Amino acid sequence: LSTTEFDTSKVQEGMQVVITWQGKPVFVRNRTAAELQKVQADPLSSLKDPETDQDRTKPGHEPMLVVLGNCTHLGCIPTFGSGDYGGWFCPCHGSHYDASGRIRKGPAPTNLVVPEYAFTAGSTIKIG
Ligand code: FES
Repeated sequence: LSTTEFDTSKVQEGMQVVITWQGKPVFVRNRTAAELQKVQADPLSSLKDPETDQDRTKPGHEPMLVVLGNCTHLGCIPTFGSGDYGGWFCPCHGSHYDASGRIRKGPAPTNLVVPEYAFTAGSTIKIG
C-alpha cells in the first residue's frame, strides 16, 4: 500500500508505537509535556541539522511526532527513550537523537525523516 492510516489516540503519553509504511518502520511518539517543552526550547544554534520542533509536527497536534524509524547514518533502527538527549539512540555507531528526532551527537548527518502525512479525521493520520 502506498498510504497507511493509523489512529494516534492508541499511543499513550510518553510512549511510541511502531507502524509500517511501505515496508519501513515509522515511529509514532506521543511526547510528554516535559519532553515537548525541552525540544521546543532548544536553540537552533545547538542543532547539527537545524529544524524547529514546530517544523516537524502538525499544528494542534504538537505532542505527536511521526518519523521514519531508520537512522540517517546507515539505516539501523534506533532505540526508543535512550541516548543522551532522551529521544533515541542508534546502537550501530552511536547516534543520539532528541525527542524531536533531531540528530544531536554521533555520525548521523541529518534528523530522522518526517514522512509526508496529514491528520485526516480527529486523531487519525494518513501517511503517504
Ligand atoms: Fe545509526 Fe550508524 S546506522 S549510527
